[in-house]
Amino acid sequence: MRVEFFTGEAMRVHLPALSRLRMAVFRDWPYLYDGSWDNEANYLAEFAACPRAGLAVAFDGDEAVGCSSCLPLADEDASLTGPFVARGWNRQDFFYFGESVLLPQYRGQGIGVRFFELREAHALASSSAQFAAFCAVQRPADHKLRPAGAVPLDAFWRKRGFTAYPELVCRFDWKQVDGPDRVLNTLAFWLKSLRGAPLP
Ligand SMILES: CC(C)(COP(=O)(O)OP(=O)(O)OC[C@H]1O[C@@H](n2cnc3c(N)ncnc32)[C@H](O)[C@@H]1OP(=O)(O)O)[C@@H](O)C(=O)NCCC(=O)NCCS
Repeated sequence: MRVEFFTGEAMRVHLPALSRLRMAVFRDWPYLYDGSWDNEANYLAEFAACPRAGLAVAFDGDEAVGCSSCLPLADEDASLTGPFVARGWNRQDFFYFGESVLLPQYRGQGIGVRFFELREAHALASSSAQFAAFCAVQRPADHKLRPAGAVPLDAFWRKRGFTAYPELVCRFDWKQVDGPDRVLNTLAFWLKSLRGAPLP
């Protein structure tokens, strides 16, 4: 197993793997994402166009088995930046960490930790952002598809130094595995100080 970090053209080579892994991993709880290559193409075009985007890729031999993305929040569109602007925060102060998707059989070996380390290093090297930010889908406790014994990642994220901001939310819709229509989902942000500044 190895984890490498890519930007620019070298990163773009791995975007089909990112889509493949998003569709495989996010199909499960809690995202329930019923992805398609069409839908992924729209998503990836925006990501690929960002010059300061970065992608960590975990490989088993030559095969990508996990990916984790990041880019400056200011390069994201209003659906992500809106909650920050509404609070009067400067978008330039935040580096956005996108998805981390790792095939289940490779979990628990420290790859998720490495994904955070590599993205934080990229944020520090390529921007003056004070904070890292990511968001996670919110699901009701009694959701009918919640697996028995499902463990939230909250403790994992806290251990990485992030603080939950349950009132700082964005909304995205996607086609879910449990129905024919797109469903509007709420995602709440988590923040971490990258350079020692107090959290906003
Ligand atoms: C998020 C994800 C990439 C983490 O990957 P991972 O490689 O299994 O994580 P790691 O092996 O690096 O975990 C490292 C540490 O966190 C701990 N940990 C992992 N999951 C945890 C959890 N749910 N709660 C508490 N601690 C957890 C591990 O025990 C380990 O602890 P240690 O440092 O004391 O040894 C993986 O779980 C995943 O792909 N999940 C599905 C997609 C998803 O929900 N992504 C997040 C939103 S985009």
